[in-house]
Amino acid sequence: MKDNYGRTIEYLRISVTDRCNQRCIHCMPEGGVALMEHGDILSYEEIGRVAAEAARLGVRKIRLTGGEPLVRPQLHRLVALLKETPGIETVVLTTNAVLLKDQLPDLLAAGLDGVNASLNAMDREAYRAFTGRDLFDPAMEGLQAALDTPDLKVKINCVPTIGREKQLIKLAGLARDTRASVRFIELMPIGMGGSLQGIEKDALLDLFQRSFGEPVRVPSTGSGTAAAEFETGTEHVEVPHSIAGPAEYVRFPGFLSDIGFISAVSHRFCEDCNRIRLTADGKLKSCLAFPAGEDVKEILRNGGSQQDISDAIVRCIQKKPEHHQFGLAKTEEDRLMSQIGG
Ligand code: GTP
Ligand code: 5AD
Ligand code: SF4
Repeated sequence: MKDNYGRTIEYLRISVTDRCNQRCIHCMPEGGVALMEHGDILSYEEIGRVAAEAARLGVRKIRLTGGEPLVRPQLHRLVALLKETPGIETVVLTTNAVLLKDQLPDLLAAGLDGVNASLNAMDREAYRAFTGRDLFDPAMEGLQAALDTPDLKVKINCVPTIGREKQLIKLAGLARDTRASVRFIELMPIGMGGSLQGIEKDALLDLFQRSFGEPVRVPSTGSGTAAAEFETGTEHVEVPHSIAGPAEYVRFPGFLSDIGFISAVSHRFCEDCNRIRLTADGKLKSCLAFPAGEDVKEILRNGGSQQDISDAIVRCIQKKPEHHQFGLAKTEEDRLMSQIGG
């Protein structure tokens, strides 16, 4: 389905829980947050009913997020249910990878297509300082298990903040040594993000260039739909609509894979946005940076029909704003990233 600005909505991000086994400094306060009541969190069957209607309206790709999605028991059951939903082609996961190694066989058997692993440090102590937990080893084992699975798409997400440059260079090095692309996501003023200082793309590129040499720009292979332009020295390459996504990619000499930059705040890519979101407590959100809209939990739990769910999704898509307003106004209703789903 198209929204009012002509954008095709084909990507649904589903947050399955607001709980997390870590406390990353840019995301959650160490003291924790008021958690959703268990009874308010949609069951897999309820999520399946929403996904079925989203698919009828044109959604083809689903990303499962959290909090940390793997803390929810038997997530593979939801993956299987979604993969069996007519119209859904791709089901992927964004995770901190701490619980991934053990769950990966079941997730793969259920048909999981890809994993985006959030990783912000490459040394045990730096990892503990960033995440508040001493879980570096299981996180690396989870990432390695994903990398060892030949057909699984793997990307690494890192949110660069000042003072951690040494770790950022090491993280970028994963794109030299592994098949995973490493994406640096600009810090967003959501949750704890507002109290830290991020590093923008150009400064990061300078930093990496000093360690790795001159990069070349490469076409995005992301999920977006707009034309993106890249300068390659004197050359100017226009990337076709079908392959450009929110991340801009470069490749350093001798690297196995790419480094990406997702600059949602400073380089708004909203004109290419193809997604809506479902929060764990059953709210449809048309944009990361706008308050939750339609309450599908109410519909699901008050005898609503599939048509009622479909109508709610249509209303959500019709209300999708033209672009986010990070920095201009307080647009989020005090939810943290872990309560929205990245
Ligand atoms: P793929 O493109 O499918 O790999 O996934 P993704 O990059 O959308 O998903 P992921 O969960 O890895 O998100 C990475 C980061 O990019 C998160 O911090 C997201 O919040 C951010 N992000 C992804 N999509 C959007 C978007 O449409 N708008 C904004 N503002 N941020 C986004
Ligand atoms: N700004 C940018 N990214 C964030 N994430 C969590 N909080 C923020 C923030 N304030 C990231 C996580 C994860 C992704 C889904 O969102 O690190 O990689
Ligand atoms: Fe948990 Fe991800 Fe937030 Fe870190 S960024 S606390 S792993 S939800």
